[in-house]
Amino acid sequence: MTKTSNPITIAVLGGTGHEGGGLALRWARAGHRVIIGSRDGGRAATHAADLTATAGTTIEGMGNREAAAAAQIVVLAVPFSAQMATALGVGDELIGKILIDVTVPLVPPKVGRVQLPGGGSAVVLLQEKLGEAVKVVAAFQNISAHQLADLDREIDCDVLVSGDDEAARQIVVGLAEDGGMLAWHAGPLANSAAAEALTSVLISINRRYKIATGSGIRITGARSA
Ligand SMILES: NC(=O)c1ccc[n+]([C@@H]2O[C@H](COP(=O)([O-])OP(=O)(O)OC[C@H]3O[C@@H](n4cnc5c(N)ncnc54)[C@H](OP(=O)(O)O)[C@@H]3O)[C@@H](O)[C@H]2O)c1
Repeated sequence: MTKTSNPITIAVLGGTGHEGGGLALRWARAGHRVIIGSRDGGRAATHAADLTATAGTTIEGMGNREAAAAAQIVVLAVPFSAQMATALGVGDELIGKILIDVTVPLVPPKVGRVQLPGGGSAVVLLQEKLGEAVKVVAAFQNISAHQLADLDREIDCDVLVSGDDEAARQIVVGLAEDGGMLAWHAGPLANSAAAEALTSVLISINRRYKIATGSGIRITGARSA
């Protein structure tokens, strides 16, 4: 296990949503200072109060920019259609920080079909726009929000962590472990395309086999290597 040793201040942009809210719950419970961000600071504060009651520890709520400014690590958890604008909207607050992108490039209505953007990966395009001053790491795209929200349940899915900066990746692997997940260094950011595509595969499996809490993936073989 490679858990982080010190509390980190984490801002989850779009933390009023299902995926970001679930990550916020898990990191708050692990002892990190967590701020959820929203386009509407009032909505963030209201939602943060609900999450605080669930987590049993304080989760703060702020506007997206304010949250990003206050954080050491920023998480982007908004729909694909809002990914670029949300990140660029707080761009100067990301300089020198790690941005964990959870975005999956789903294109409704056919979300069970892989539709990666030109160039292959949504997060690679984001890294190109933000530039090298922001260390973008892709993770958690295959973790269902249902599983994150159920704090009493073990998460039945591994986390693939992709990024071009190994030290940044290591921190995200540690944060995943803090949240109760098994995470793997999955190579450079370009490899995020595989995790982004896998989500549509999992959505198709969820529908076919009626898996309400969300199917997942496991990496096998490494423990006996
Ligand atoms: N749900 C899952 O199980 C799951 C699993 C893996 C990955 N993901 C990925 O994680 C991301 C978030 O998923 P989610 O299910 O949490 O999404 P969501 O609930 O639909 O949206 C999350 C938040 O994004 C903000 N948002 C929505 N539309 C926006 C827009 N047009 N512009 C700016 N902000 C907007 C909203 O916050 P405010 O209105 O408060 O600003 C919303 O609460 C997506 O990219 C998704 O593919 C989701």
